[in-house]
Amino acid sequence: MRASTDPGVATAERYRAFAEVEARGMSACYERWAAGVAADPEIVTLINLLPPVKRQPNLVFSAARLHGAVAGEYPAFVAWLRAHWALVAATCLTHATQTNEAGRCAVLLPALAALAGPLAIIEVGASAGLCLRPDRYSYRYRSADGGERMLHPADGPSPVLLDCAVIGPVPLPERMPQIVWRAGIDLHPLDVHSDADVAWLEALIWPEHDDRRARLRAAVAVARQETVEIVPGDLNGQIEALVARAPAGATVVVFHTAVLAYLNAADRDRFAAQMTRLPVRWLSNEGQSVVPGVLERLGEAPAPSHSTPASAFILALDGEPIALTQPHGRSLHWLG
Ligand SMILES: C[S@@+](CC[C@H](N)C(=O)[O-])C[C@H]1O[C@@H](n2cnc3c(N)ncnc32)[C@H](O)[C@@H]1O
Repeated sequence: MRASTDPGVATAERYRAFAEVEARGMSACYERWAAGVAADPEIVTLINLLPPVKRQPNLVFSAARLHGAVAGEYPAFVAWLRAHWALVAATCLTHATQTNEAGRCAVLLPALAALAGPLAIIEVGASAGLCLRPDRYSYRYRSADGGERMLHPADGPSPVLLDCAVIGPVPLPERMPQIVWRAGIDLHPLDVHSDADVAWLEALIWPEHDDRRARLRAAVAVARQETVEIVPGDLNGQIEALVARAPAGATVVVFHTAVLAYLNAADRDRFAAQMTRLPVRWLSNEGQSVVPGVLERLGEAPAPSHSTPASAFILALDGEPIALTQPHGRSLHWLG
């Protein structure tokens, strides 16, 4: 677990770690806000009124922006926060960080397309289900030598175009995988038809990431055209029953991205054991030390680079690492 999300770590330290590790280079605004909070005992005391699991910077800042805090310097933010604390606190208590990034489909798609179809896909930790529609988006894969591969849904280009830099021998598909059934599981599914849920998804995107906000709006519009069931509940408790509902004759693929970090070690082990036991293919895209055994099987990770930062996720099929991926799906570094 990262220091910023670890309820056992002191609040000031959580905000300092968030500023220095997560926000730096990703959001100048959040870096300033988090560093400011870390050095401001009065605001730390205010945040400490929340239960420890609700004190995480990403949650507090997203709640503030949902209620109108404007990206900018710390003094203006903190004045706003004092004036609107009751609203922000109420939102923190009822909401969770559930960022749903359709861009992650770009790193999942080649692995999905390489499996024998037709596919029945199940996403655990699906949030609003935007990653459950990989075949509804268009893709532009670019390699360092200037090569480019476009891929579109069977019925033509999608309003959602996902750009992804590729490194190594990525098996780029000629056509979309055939997905005949799809469903998800989430502790608290968000509803793409709910304006309030979509506003929360927007607030979860960091201030400077305008491209991600535009993509979210486009992906929500696509998702609104086709209802996909997302079963409410814990992934460990629900997965076996959902796998049993998949149509016969399809390859069942259980996948997850940016989810297992929310589980404790025992629950991650339990989930990994279920993936081995159930008749499924298992595609995971998670932080490097999150999925049991995957980092060990990778051996040594390639040296961090601009396109494959140290924060890269590991994409693994049935527990075997196959690629390193940028956490929002901006790049895909195929191994081997
Ligand atoms: C950061 S979001 C990622 C959403 C999506 N996978 C994506 O990549 O865009 C993590 C999601 O996992 C869900 N989650 C966390 N723990 C879970 C659990 N034990 N069972 C089911 N869902 C869980 C959260 O509710 C949240 O929607």
